[in-house]
Amino acid sequence: MTGASEAQWKAVAMLLQTLIADAPDMRDLPSWTLARCFSVLRETPASRPEWVVVARFNGRPVGLTIGHALGQEIYSYFTGVLPDWRSMHVGLALKLRLIAAAQMSGITTMRTTNLDANTAALRLNASIGFRRVPGSLELRKALSAVDFATSAKPQ
Ligand SMILES: CC(C)(COP(=O)(O)OP(=O)(O)OC[C@H]1O[C@@H](n2cnc3c(N)ncnc32)[C@H](O)[C@@H]1OP(=O)(O)O)[C@@H](O)C(=O)NCCC(=O)NCCS
Repeated sequence: MTGASEAQWKAVAMLLQTLIADAPDMRDLPSWTLARCFSVLRETPASRPEWVVVARFNGRPVGLTIGHALGQEIYSYFTGVLPDWRSMHVGLALKLRLIAAAQMSGITTMRTTNLDANTAALRLNASIGFRRVPGSLELRKALSAVDFATSAKPQ
């Protein structure tokens, strides 16, 4: 997205909003606002315009991958492709472009995290040589007023 126009950024932010909502990682979580998408794409200090790689068909964005700076490494933050374009190696092509862009900046390591149930993402990453390392479990809890009332009670 280096040198992209404001209209192109907006179209890509809207695509990210759609694709994020479709990721299994987002199940039971609130939808992302466009502001959050812009933040991830270009406002967080870890973002790099050259690490937002977009696949287009007739000028319309149909897939994207986002890399964030993580110290001397690159974190592969999110990759998504619109349903009609999946299983055509668009995701693979995006990720390979991101790797090439990172290498041009002298980066030698890419990290990512995948939900264990996200077969598509795991297969995609395995196909380009990501290896699994011991991980962590993400724990989630909906916070409610009842929790506060309970914790405020003397034990
Ligand atoms: C993950 C995702 C980006 C893959 O994009 P894609 O363009 O369909 O993937 P590709 O066509 O490049 O496939 C790459 C490899 O993964 C495999 N793969 C893709 N989708 C698969 C699926 N649903 N089940 C099993 N394997 C799958 C392909 O067969 C291919 O392997 P191969 O080279 O051995 O044939 C896409 O499914 C998606 O947008 N998912 C929703 C968003 C998401 O969950 N993103 C990941 C969180 S970061």
